[in-house]
Amino acid sequence: MHKCNLILKTATVNYPIYIDSNIMEDVGELYTPAFVGQKAVVITDSNVSKYYLKTVESSLNQGGWRIIFSHAVLAGEASKSFEQFEKLSEEILKVNIDRDTTIFALGGGVVGDLVGFLSSVLLRGIDFVQIPTSLLAQIDSSVGGKTAINSKAGKNLIGSFYQPKAVIIDVNSLKTLPKREVRAGYAEILKYGLIKDSNFFMWLQKNATKLLNLDVDILKYAINKSCAIKADIVKEDEKETKNLRALLNFGHSFGHALEYCAGFDDEKIKHGEAVAIGMIMASKLSYILNMCSCDISNIVQKHLQSLDIPIKPSFRITADEMIKAMYFDKKNKFDKITYILLKDIGSAVVKTDIDDRIVMSLLTEIIKTWD
Ligand code: GLY
Repeated sequence: MHKCNLILKTATVNYPIYIDSNIMEDVGELYTPAFVGQKAVVITDSNVSKYYLKTVESSLNQGGWRIIFSHAVLAGEASKSFEQFEKLSEEILKVNIDRDTTIFALGGGVVGDLVGFLSSVLLRGIDFVQIPTSLLAQIDSSVGGKTAINSKAGKNLIGSFYQPKAVIIDVNSLKTLPKREVRAGYAEILKYGLIKDSNFFMWLQKNATKLLNLDVDILKYAINKSCAIKADIVKEDEKETKNLRALLNFGHSFGHALEYCAGFDDEKIKHGEAVAIGMIMASKLSYILNMCSCDISNIVQKHLQSLDIPIKPSFRITADEMIKAMYFDKKNKFDKITYILLKDIGSAVVKTDIDDRIVMSLLTEIIKTWD
């Protein structure tokens, strides 16, 4: 039987995070119904369904759940839309769910965010369980209760804080994930080392290649460590009101701007790829503002390059476009761009008082090096 690796505790909830290989077939045993025949809904996507839907369904059935609806949304960011949200809500409501129904979100960040948001509003809130299958979802989006869909005005602008009842992570599911997705997800693992844990950062420098080759023990350690760091932060600042959870947005102000300028087309740039480039920019900004004594951006850049993770976007962009896009970020306060900067590897701070001209000249310099 699989052990519970972590418990995420907040002021109001606590829930288990399981991390193991071949755990997908034991979902119904790990998360049992309160009574035999309790209703379950499974939402997945068109890629993940062909690999894992049957396994999860049969495990839930064996565990005593009664699956009343299974559905695969189209894989990709476009499914985090109002349209998909409406369609799925109506379909789920048609099968007669009740407040005892649990929704299982089987997939990457898109499925997790969409299902989390749906669960938070259907019948004013029903239980949901995250079964993340992408690296990014396993180490970040499935943990901590941020749920969202996208709006024309920007990414993740409509959502809620709504915690799952459990997170069940099967590292084997990464075997069917495209390599590009694995590398993009890695950037967010690196982020944890950079903002909170220099030892973990050093460990990653040594073990990243094995991790990207999906060595199971290395993956389990890195996912566990990432979720533990995130759980510690969420415990203290569940709703991002204390400048603590905001640290998890390191690289994201610049990264979101890159995604925005790419029209949120994840073929052009994946979220993790944008965060990787954003982390180089944020580290460089920390250095030119004299917040840290060494230029950490060089270390990050070299590390990413050694792993074949892009350090520039595949499309053209100007510093001006980036700054404009950065103003459309929900993390901003009082119309000022929020930056997460490094004091050292493993130590980050939130800053909002940075002159746009400094950032503009830094971005202009960085973009020049891309030509
Ligand atoms: N992905 C950042 C957070 O969950 O706060």
